[in-house]
Amino acid sequence: MRKPIIAGNWKMNNTASEGVALVKAIAPLVENANCDVVVCVPAIDIPAVSEALKGTNIKLGAENVHFAAKGAYTGEISAAMLLEYGVEYVIIGHSERRQYFAETDETVNKRTLTALNAGLTPIVCIGESLEERETGKTEAVLATQIKEGLKDIEDITKIVIAYEPVWAIGTGKTATAEQANETIAYIRKTVGEMFCPHCAAALRIQYGGSMNAGNCKELMAMPEIDGGLIGGASLKAPDFAAIVNFDK
Ligand code: 13P
Repeated sequence: MRKPIIAGNWKMNNTASEGVALVKAIAPLVENANCDVVVCVPAIDIPAVSEALKGTNIKLGAENVHFAAKGAYTGEISAAMLLEYGVEYVIIGHSERRQYFAETDETVNKRTLTALNAGLTPIVCIGESLEERETGKTEAVLATQIKEGLKDIEDITKIVIAYEPVWAIGTGKTATAEQANETIAYIRKTVGEMFCPHCAAALRIQYGGSMNAGNCKELMAMPEIDGGLIGGASLKAPDFAAIVNFDK
């Protein structure tokens, strides 16, 4: 049995004080969650949000991590810096980083291996663009992202994959539950062929892209979908809590 995992991705939203207010509002609403609950927050919010999360069942995540241990990488954040504040998860390879910050499958792979070595749980994002879906390239694109981005991982069950079709992010257009389920089944099959079927069966794969309080139950009812990576709806406590409590 795979334990569902609902994670918020705040992106570039919420100052530290706004973030603290948000997690204080979320915490009492999700204290009886049956799933893993994570908030992935801007790096500068981490110290304050980490403090505010003490004594709650909400885990802390970052939105990126550099692959080097330290050195001349102006503006970057290392795994050790995250660990010092109790960060447990880190989003890697989000489509916005691929699109705006030159993230490639190669850098995704380096960051993922670094995160795993440090004991962080990477949430590795993959997904196709609208043009790729419409021209029938979805499976080929995902296969490349998986083969290049996840190579050399020793224990694939230590990561989480987020399937985020780029055309569904922030657009209000959700993949249908069937579309998401079918694509995630393909991802699981591909991971199974690359690693082992047994490991793929234990791997948690989230759906992300306009997931909200209204559509989460239908998405989460699909057998392949093990959780959600939530953007916009993670910025409002009642909405995020409703998703976390999808099974109630
Ligand atoms: P939205 O939920 O705002 O579509 O964002 C999804 C996402 O990119 C989560 O990482």
